[in-house]
Amino acid sequence: MSSTETDKPAEPTYEELQRRAKASRDVPTYSHDAVIVCDRLVRIFTTDTVEVQALQGLDLTVTKSDLVALVGASGSGKSTLLNILAGLDAPTAGSATVDGNDLLQMTSRQRLDYRRHTIGFVWQQTARNLMPFLTAAQNVTLPMQLNGRRFSPGLGKQRANRTNQLLETLGIGHLADRRPAQLSGGEQQRVAIAVALANNPALLLADEPTGELDTETADGIFQAFRTVNQELGTTVVIVTHDPMVAGEVRRTVAVRDGRTSTEILRHTLTGDDGARHTSHTEYAMLDRSGRVQLPREFLEALGIRHRVALNLGTDHITVHPHNEPA
Ligand SMILES: Nc1ncnc2c1ncn2[C@@H]1O[C@H](COP(=O)(O)OP(=O)(O)O)[C@@H](O)[C@H]1O
Ligand SMILES: [Mg+2]
Repeated sequence: MSSTETDKPAEPTYEELQRRAKASRDVPTYSHDAVIVCDRLVRIFTTDTVEVQALQGLDLTVTKSDLVALVGASGSGKSTLLNILAGLDAPTAGSATVDGNDLLQMTSRQRLDYRRHTIGFVWQQTARNLMPFLTAAQNVTLPMQLNGRRFSPGLGKQRANRTNQLLETLGIGHLADRRPAQLSGGEQQRVAIAVALANNPALLLADEPTGELDTETADGIFQAFRTVNQELGTTVVIVTHDPMVAGEVRRTVAVRDGRTSTEILRHTLTGDDGARHTSHTEYAMLDRSGRVQLPREFLEALGIRHRVALNLGTDHITVHPHNEPA
């Protein structure tokens, strides 16, 4: 690269920066290639005695063909979010759109259609994903038979072809005639992924799909999700409690207390020596009004408590401790 100082665009003036800083912050986050857009999503569970705020204004945008891991402590709201995205539960407030479907405005008929055609879902419990008395191939074909389309000549052959293709893509073509009890946990989850993809969904969701598997098998399953994402272009969101997945997917979003908190993006760069390096950068998420949550470890490291001093630079903002004397 031969960029010099003079190639750079003129730096904005201080007045311009002030104007930008003061400009309306209520900028919509919608974009044309977004599959998921959640905006200030709230889900409150009310039981006889208590009220649990499982989602507390969660923002999340996922673009088409992305592969995203959601991580977070137990009870942080990951499954609640996934169930809403899957059309199995409805939010209390906020907005959620998946592939153009407004999840707060669907009739029950539309919701059923949405679950059949727009979403594929893989559960943690391998047994929950498959019909025990059907073979792997029959399990994959079943959602196609139930998808509400009228039968026509040639459809049976088409479905058989698609089933074979999916099983091949997932590396289990040779297991087509086995029943779940004749398959290992990892093989069952591969079949489950094929079942979830049967009707070519816009979005594949998986809630801790490797929770019952050993580490090595789990790695293979993550690889299977990557293959599906790359070869079929399916948008994939996987919930996992394993922070190591950040090294395996491009984007990892952390959920804390019912909100998205920080986010890790993986970049692969080719260095001057031609070698490829992978780097991870952690980002904090901005909500629509510009709020940002600083990681607790950072605050503790500098003893920051009540307020910080903010300074606007030409291409960055600095945050300095400003603690009152005790
Ligand atoms: N159906 C429900 N009724 C009442 N509380 C619930 C229900 N589902 C989840 N919760 C509560 O909501 C919070 C988030 O749960 P969940 O989404 O399952 O978290 P995670 O999947 O991240 O472990 C927890 O406090 C949980 O107890
Ligand atoms: Mg969960």
